Amino acid sequence: MTEIRLATLKDVPALAKLEAESFPYDAMSARSFRRFIKLGEAELWVLDQNASLLGYAIMLYRPATKLARLYSFAIAQQARRQGFGNQLLKHMETLAKAEHSLFMRLEVKADDSAAVGFFQQRGYHDIGLKNDYFDDHSDAVVLQKQLHFFDSERTPRRVPYLTQTTPFTCGPTSLLMALSYFGHEYARPDLEELELWREATTIYMTSGHGGCGPHGLARAAHKRGLEVELWVSQPGPVLLDSVRNAQKRDVMARIQVADIAALEQAGVTMHVGDYYANQLEQDLAADKLVIALISTYQFDQSKAPHWVLVTAIDDDFVYINDPDEDTVPWQSPVERQYIPIPRETFSRAFGYGSKRLRAALVLAR
Ligand SMILES: CC(C)(COP(=O)(O)OP(=O)(O)OC[C@H]1O[C@@H](n2cnc3c(N)ncnc32)[C@H](O)[C@@H]1OP(=O)(O)O)[C@@H](O)C(=O)NCCC(=O)NCCS
Repeated sequence: MTEIRLATLKDVPALAKLEAESFPYDAMSARSFRRFIKLGEAELWVLDQNASLLGYAIMLYRPATKLARLYSFAIAQQARRQGFGNQLLKHMETLAKAEHSLFMRLEVKADDSAAVGFFQQRGYHDIGLKNDYFDDHSDAVVLQKQLHFFDSERTPRRVPYLTQTTPFTCGPTSLLMALSYFGHEYARPDLEELELWREATTIYMTSGHGGCGPHGLARAAHKRGLEVELWVSQPGPVLLDSVRNAQKRDVMARIQVADIAALEQAGVTMHVGDYYANQLEQDLAADKLVIALISTYQFDQSKAPHWVLVTAIDDDFVYINDPDEDTVPWQSPVERQYIPIPRETFSRAFGYGSKRLRAALVLAR
């Protein structure tokens, strides 16, 4: 009978033997196995068949990043190619999903094509190389799989996805996706993307082309016939803090003063205040879409302002269409649609700069 269970200290000799034959280039000691079992800082699972140990897996959870790390994984040589690896991996993925992990990640010896192939066939993507990673100085490929997807059965997947074509058009591209959802078709979306940018740019980047501010985007959305409600946590012109040059700051402020006046005249509702998750839930349930300003720090450790389109929410995740392919470069456009972001991560990412400027455009048909 085959059983997958947590390891006990009695398993250590068999684990050390399996380890030595599976990873001659970088084997863990019996002492390390004992430590994993005793300290409980990682989960050590074994697959045994009639009291003989055929495989094991070690998993570490990193709650902040929602990452489950498969620290080690092996099937005994004599038991390979019989489906045990598959069985154990499925078990580990089920555990990680139950912990609400978004991704499973592991390092595999780069020149072990059998092991790399095994994981790639099971949906793992190559997301990078670590040179000189193992004890024998060989390289490791970092493999990762997304575990959680939007439940398209519950709410049909519907908001179309577009990738921004320049580094400064995240806002316009988010707006284009929303426009397309609300029935606006453009023969040349690439031209419309720049048209929207030209209307909405606030020049808030320190160098190069500027990105778009909330008021400019709201104005461009309203001009195209969408119903717009704007939430900005601070009154008046925003995103000025990081701009050191007084002249640039003045230009940015004036552009926004004009945008705000135009929005007021057009009767667009502007709230000065924080936009919260319960409002997000209500608005999405009312078939609205929300363009939100996030800081990319939670995702790639760089503090750039970035607009994304929020498309859905459930108990655990906020789903976004992220126009920037660089946030999750290993994923295909289909996977960048409805990207699940754990609710706490989204709430930390939602807000930009030292004053945590929160800006959201709520859009309806
Ligand atoms: C990778 C590993 C876990 C696979 O375990 P397994 O029990 O043999 O895998 P399964 O029997 O469930 O699945 C095998 C499938 O994976 C692929 N595969 C596994 N080994 C392969 C090989 N040597 N050549 C080609 N394909 C291979 C095949 O698609 C195979 O399906 P098939 O047998 O129907 O052709 C095992 O080879 C191993 O322990 N390797 C060394 C340890 C390691 O590198 N671990 C990963 C890093 S921690």
